[in-house]
Amino acid sequence: MPVVETGRVIIVGAGLGALYAALHLAPHPVVMISPEVLGQGASSAWAQGGIAAAMAAADSPAAHAADTVRAGAGTVDAEVAASVTAEARAHILELTALGTPFDRDAQGGYVLSREAAHGLARVVRVRGDQAGREIMAALIAEAARTPSVQVLEATMAVGLQVQDGRVTGVAVAPADGAGDPVLLRGAAVLLAGGGSGGLYALTTNPPRIRGQVIGMAARAGAVIADAEFVQFHPTAIDMGEDPAPLATEALRGEGAVLINHDGVRFMQAVHPDAELAPRDIVARAIFAETEGRRRPMLDTRAAIGSEIVERFPAVAAACLRGGIDPVAQPIPVAAAAHYHMGGIAVSSTGRSSLDGLWACGEASATGLHGANRLASNGLLEALVYGRRAALDIAQGLGEKQASPVVLPTAATAQANAASDIANLIAKLRQVMTDHVGVVRDANGLRFALRQIAMLEAQASGDTNVLNMTATATLIAAAALLREESRGAHCRRDFPQANPALARASRLTLAEALAL
Ligand code: SIN
Repeated sequence: MPVVETGRVIIVGAGLGALYAALHLAPHPVVMISPEVLGQGASSAWAQGGIAAAMAAADSPAAHAADTVRAGAGTVDAEVAASVTAEARAHILELTALGTPFDRDAQGGYVLSREAAHGLARVVRVRGDQAGREIMAALIAEAARTPSVQVLEATMAVGLQVQDGRVTGVAVAPADGAGDPVLLRGAAVLLAGGGSGGLYALTTNPPRIRGQVIGMAARAGAVIADAEFVQFHPTAIDMGEDPAPLATEALRGEGAVLINHDGVRFMQAVHPDAELAPRDIVARAIFAETEGRRRPMLDTRAAIGSEIVERFPAVAAACLRGGIDPVAQPIPVAAAAHYHMGGIAVSSTGRSSLDGLWACGEASATGLHGANRLASNGLLEALVYGRRAALDIAQGLGEKQASPVVLPTAATAQANAASDIANLIAKLRQVMTDHVGVVRDANGLRFALRQIAMLEAQASGDTNVLNMTATATLIAAAALLREESRGAHCRRDFPQANPALARASRLTLAEALAL
């Protein structure tokens, strides 16, 4: 494989954590690996709700941390929750200074949304449901003004190089699969390439986000934590699109209700907080309505009415694209894979278990989310750990100059027909949805592990697919090992939480494969 010495920090990913880290590393040279045009195809850009932060006079980081711990169902690291929530305000102010047009009231205060399991309105937002897009736009503009940041677009990472126990490089290839890999060697590697939602047939994640980054770390030997905890969003719009568009939880914060085809508000019988119960509880209730063929729907008509077009433009546009008029009709919804609480186990500065390798954002597991992430804590975590990882990496760097990275252009024919690979991935996604989804049991999980192994054997060494099957294996194996129900992990055969298991799980790929 051709080798390029970059003299740069290599950042795999192009979302919020990746960009924020690149900016905080400046003036140290970095190269970002982005499968699409920078900012496109990153989960952060699709985030609707916003960022949770104690900005209100009646709020405090301690209250935010307490809600985070409560939602996380017994496995949140309380110290991590305290330190992350304490930093939240500073990051909101920094994003504001970088030009993010957060919604403000007449007095200049931040307008805050209410989301499930928050004790009060706490989510800073942009034009109702445009937070991810606008925050990313501000950071992309800043990156363009920062000479130390180079972006390799249309390029995907396919593997890590480990030498003498240290991660020293990243193998990259054209994102369209039509070319040989090239090894980029760098001063440090930061994985910030998102989660695993796209490993499921029903997901709200952008199409390329399929657990590859977690998988490549696992294949290099990194410890993966909490892999079994996959968060399903209760209100993906069920209109046959893949990925499924999101109907932000902020709609329920504004009073939208969940009904079934009989017009029954089923959440009132499930939890005292009804539609604003923790996300895992609402997702399971939606799943039960779907399984029972009672057609769950989000009814925004009484609470928001025709204002939905103005106040939630992304949701309204998605509905109209699917032939649903949200002003006149309830919106059909389904529970869809949305956020992976688990990922590459990292320290408080984003260090993985492998020397030379850091991770941040959804690809990492910091201990903040536990078994059930509190809404809008995802972007916050990406900011906090993106910055911390950058500062930690910078401490070990000397170089402040590097030439631009130029990739050799030679392309070769693909080893596998694209349609075979697409078929294989489609089967993998269906197995995950059917057997490693909202509700699981040992038989289904063992069946899934066998199917994943079979699909992996058919992948003819396609590294992108091997990264996906590695993560799928870890999710199914960790789900099999956790013989209890906790947060987003629900076992039909172990319906109760077991207090003795109230801790994070840690697993290597070798251990998962040995099951
Ligand atoms: C939403 O807007 O409902 C999603 C927010 C999140 O996942 O944190």
